[in-house]
Amino acid sequence: MVKPKTFFACQQCGAEFPKWLGRCSECGSWNSLVETPQFLIRRTGPQRLPPALEPQKLSQVKSVKRFRLTTNIPEFDRVLGGGVVPGSLVLLAGPPGIGKSTLMLQLATKIKNSVLYVSGEESLQQIKIRAERLGAKNDQLLLLTETDVDLIVSQFAKKEVKFSFVVIDSIQTLTTTDLSGASGSVGQVRECATRLQKLAKSSGIAVFLIGHVTKEGAIAGPKVLEHLVDTVVYFEGDKFGEVRLLRASKNRFGPTDEVGIFEMGDQGLMAVSNPSKLFLKKRNQGVPGSVVAATIEGTRPVLVEIQALVVPTQLSIPRRIAQGVDYRRLQLISAVLTKRLGLPLAGFDIYVNITGGFKIEEPAVDLAVALAIVSSFRNKALNAKLVCFGEIGLLGEIRQVGQSATREKEARRLGFTTIISPDKHRSIGQAARQVIK
Ligand code: TYD
Ligand code: MG
Repeated sequence: MVKPKTFFACQQCGAEFPKWLGRCSECGSWNSLVETPQFLIRRTGPQRLPPALEPQKLSQVKSVKRFRLTTNIPEFDRVLGGGVVPGSLVLLAGPPGIGKSTLMLQLATKIKNSVLYVSGEESLQQIKIRAERLGAKNDQLLLLTETDVDLIVSQFAKKEVKFSFVVIDSIQTLTTTDLSGASGSVGQVRECATRLQKLAKSSGIAVFLIGHVTKEGAIAGPKVLEHLVDTVVYFEGDKFGEVRLLRASKNRFGPTDEVGIFEMGDQGLMAVSNPSKLFLKKRNQGVPGSVVAATIEGTRPVLVEIQALVVPTQLSIPRRIAQGVDYRRLQLISAVLTKRLGLPLAGFDIYVNITGGFKIEEPAVDLAVALAIVSSFRNKALNAKLVCFGEIGLLGEIRQVGQSATREKEARRLGFTTIISPDKHRSIGQAARQVIK
């Protein structure tokens, strides 16, 4: 076979070069050239266009009921919007060590259909050890250690086996010999994913790609993959903790507001049916600086413990350290407390943490963060049966947040009796005076 020629295209301005350059000489951007196979873009000789499609009326388009396959992991099905759509390309992204291979192997052994698990990272023996640890068996599961995407695709030309699912662990290890770049380079990752996408669409096989995320949060190189795949699922959590969250950030076939909650144990990932209980398991009752917040994860209410530590600073600019909550919101809340409650926080370092390695983005945790800071500052513990939620405005007012009935119901279900919320409290001053005497 003649090797197709490649060229390097700038991802910023589209300029093309025969060789790689560190900097695009057209637009000046650095590191923007990506290797691309020639045949994808240009055709030589007279162009033969395929017959043009006729536009159709919307009413003429046949509606199809989307059929979904269950993964037999309900938490995963829920995140995907009710199961896997055949022919779809799903990217499972997350930092190394979070449990991506574990989840995919669990899926591969639980699913009732035939699965091909392709690993470019581990040997068959390593996969076997993991499967034994998971106590998993499945004769419908075939393993392959291969990194050449074209050889992987050629597996599907064979008549004997018909797969419903393919797992690629990971997309960063694949290469095609049509490109000269190393595995993991943007050109390789994009080209390999495109070939697997064609396979998925033409054969109806669901393809799962595992993608590593670097420290900066981009899916290493393949941030470019996000628009190419149908669904992007992020795996997050504290590698050293037990809790793992699975979140869809893009879904062509379902909602993106569902979250799967898992616990990493000796036998792999287990679904967590009562997340509030898990997060509050090791709660410190009666200690200043601890407050329980009612938050919404996906469509479910989850209670979490927020901890704050306020100590005199040794620095001219005091420290503000936020773990699990947004750093800018912590700064804003400290400023509001300084102004509205008259707390001299400029002389104190503030540390805020959500226990369990959990991250919360919604502003509904503002009130809990504020009360935890006041509680630590005054060195007074709050009532152990207290739960709060609400956004804090710049004027110190407590603002409404969505689903307050759901939050309150979850709190009462778990035995909390004092609810501090925008329904009954107007300002942070009023709330703080009531709970911290
Ligand atoms: P792994 O799935 O290899 O992570 P990734 O593919 O995302 O890099 O697993 C990560 C960690 O999970 C690893 O440190 C070992 C741990 N682990 C368990 O705690 N219990 C188990 O049953 C398994 C299989 C792994
Ligand atoms: Mg892995």
